[in-house]
Amino acid sequence: MMRSYMRMLFFAVFLFGNSTGLKQGTTCVANKNCDAGLHCETCLANGNVRPRCTRMQPINPLSKVKGLPFNRYSWLTTHNAFARLGARSATGSVILSPQNQQDSITDQLNNGVRGLMLDMYDFENDIWLCHSFGGKCYNYTAFQPAINVLKEVQQFLTSNPTEIVTIIIEDYVASPNGLTKVFNAAGLRPFWFPVSRMPKNGGEWPTVADMVQRNQRLVVFTSKSSKESSEGIAYDWKYFVENQYGNGGMVAGSCPNRAESPAMNVTSRSLVVMNYFPDNPDVATACKHNSAPLISMMNTCYQATGGRWPNFIAVDFYKRSDAGGASEAVDTANGQLVCGCKSISLCKENMTFGACELPQASITPTSAVKNETSFGKFDSRPTELQWMYSILFIALLLL
Ligand SMILES: *[C@@H]1O[C@H](CO)[C@@H](O)[C@H](O)[C@H]1NC(C)=O
Ligand SMILES: *[C@@H]1O[C@H](CO)[C@@H](O)[C@H](O)[C@H]1NC(C)=O
Ligand SMILES: *[C@@H]1O[C@H](CO)[C@@H](O)[C@H](O)[C@H]1NC(C)=O
Ligand SMILES: *[C@@H]1O[C@H](CO)[C@@H](O)[C@H](O)[C@H]1NC(C)=O
Repeated sequence: MMRSYMRMLFFAVFLFGNSTGLKQGTTCVANKNCDAGLHCETCLANGNVRPRCTRMQPINPLSKVKGLPFNRYSWLTTHNAFARLGARSATGSVILSPQNQQDSITDQLNNGVRGLMLDMYDFENDIWLCHSFGGKCYNYTAFQPAINVLKEVQQFLTSNPTEIVTIIIEDYVASPNGLTKVFNAAGLRPFWFPVSRMPKNGGEWPTVADMVQRNQRLVVFTSKSSKESSEGIAYDWKYFVENQYGNGGMVAGSCPNRAESPAMNVTSRSLVVMNYFPDNPDVATACKHNSAPLISMMNTCYQATGGRWPNFIAVDFYKRSDAGGASEAVDTANGQLVCGCKSISLCKENMTFGACELPQASITPTSAVKNETSFGKFDSRPTELQWMYSILFIALLLL
């Protein structure tokens, strides 16, 4: 009897330790404990010492509504998407420049990132993703040839025929047709959204359904104005307004435009890009910045733009937060843009704009029990606890 009791206890503990499907904010021990789209992490910068299930994936707004113009959606955007933490330069050199993200472009795309900010330079007779000192790329600031990453985008667009990706290039490329060549070489030309179809005076973009149907699913912007006429690559600030990046864009209550952008309230640009990250990327504090302050800045920028929600929300370490993070900010913006609700999760196909349903009552009646339980180390869903108690009870009876 004792042996079977032990076996059942072991079984129960084993299953419990492998519990999956924990909700956002619940404490956890490993990523696999959390629901899809969540991972298990701490945010020491916010005093969250115990790991919790935190969001790393926004709700795909296209899963709700496909028929709206492109400018009626918001996309999770990674600042310096290529600058991966711990990466070694493809030149073989150690990288001595800032690193802004934790995973590969493919992983980012699979996690719902749809905007990539990429810094491109002439380097080694090719185009590289790099940081610079004075506009020049060095071995110790060069990450990898741009074509590698562009091929990852090509692969993603090929395997996901209804997804749209936007690339915003910080452009230091001076070689003739340098960008055109590298995008073509990566096989991205067939996906190109032509600049001629971008609205010039604050009008609506084509609908997402139309972009998908024509397979024009790659939107590219450059910071070099001359390339719009020379290479047909859209010049950033003809199509969007953008707030200040870095520390200057993190002052609570203010949302100034960056120098190159028209004022935030200029409506002849259909899109709004919102940056929210410090001058020096920091994986430790990113979780704090990507939490309440990000949503707060989004509301500030909403005011500054004369009542517009950001189409691109650009952050460092997009997976880091103390709960909902950048994904929740994107869900909020999408809810407002798509259906006039507080979250895209409340939007329904063909609903009247602003006619929000009430939030669904949680399925587990005891969902309030989210904090410490008698188990101390981690919480679990009540059903699992009850189940485990039953097993123990039966085991004891059998003894
Ligand atoms: C930079 O890396 C390349 C290899 O990609 C190497 O040939 C070159 O010597 C390196 N330059 C310096 C200054 O280390
Ligand atoms: C737009 O914002 C600027 C400040 O950036 C302000 O001076 C101007 O009055 C605003 N215009 C409108 C129409 O609100
Ligand atoms: C939404 O409207 C479209 C066009 O009127 C229709 O084809 C579609 O079936 C509707 N969807 C739902 C869920 O009612
Ligand atoms: C959980 O803890 C937070 C603060 O740590 C508190 O605000 C909240 O009310 C608690 N919830 C429950 C259900 O005890």
